[in-house]
Amino acid sequence: MRRPVIAGNWKLFKTIGEATTLVNDLKVRTAGITGVDIIVAPVFTALSSVATATVGSNIRLAAQNCFWEESGAYTGEVSASLLKDAGCSHVIIGHSERRQYFAETDATVNRKIHAASAAGLTVIACVGETLTEREAEQTFVVIETQLQGALAGLRSDAVAGLIIAYEPVWAIGTGKSASEAQAQEVHAFIRSLLERLFGLPVATAVRILYGGSVKPETISGLMSQPDIDGALVGGASLSAESFAAIAGYSA
Ligand code: PGA
Repeated sequence: MRRPVIAGNWKLFKTIGEATTLVNDLKVRTAGITGVDIIVAPVFTALSSVATATVGSNIRLAAQNCFWEESGAYTGEVSASLLKDAGCSHVIIGHSERRQYFAETDATVNRKIHAASAAGLTVIACVGETLTEREAEQTFVVIETQLQGALAGLRSDAVAGLIIAYEPVWAIGTGKSASEAQAQEVHAFIRSLLERLFGLPVATAVRILYGGSVKPETISGLMSQPDIDGALVGGASLSAESFAAIAGYSA
């Protein structure tokens, strides 16, 4: 019922030329995949070129961040409407690396989500606990706080269109994925929280992705879980072969 999403977060990798080569390769490898939203998130400088390369394909484009103001004296920032202008349909907001290295908080994540939704971008909002928090059995508390903060003041119809990515920080780039059961447990918690906050139709509509060391070998097991609707993939999205294998998990 929920259309699966496989999104590749290229982080701070790939020149314009490399990004274009990768997406052209991906286009060929994923041409036969239907029934899955395939998204790539290059660096800002490559967005426009990758957008041109994806015209006529089933690959959609995401940015990795955006600012909440539309325009103004904000040196170095990029607004949601400029991302649309560059060809983006999606934007990743609140990735744990942004929270960890660039001082993003639930409050700034919230402002960004409001701005991106208002601009008509589909938001991929990230949440996830650290290893210390998991070991202290704080996972659900952390996820609830992050989600409530991120979604504060949003209308139900805006929330229904969101994509949420559960990315345990200890699983990102470590090769140590959450098990299917660990991921499903948190995904089910997120869905129940969405139901409590926004009602059953919203909770049923929202797609929840798992992220953290997803590989071609692990995607099918993850996707077999009832509340896992897709994946946000870092390292394995940098190669067309492995990302296409992940996107084609059901083939
Ligand atoms: P990873 O990154 O797949 O390399 O663990 C995931 C992410 O940060 O979105």
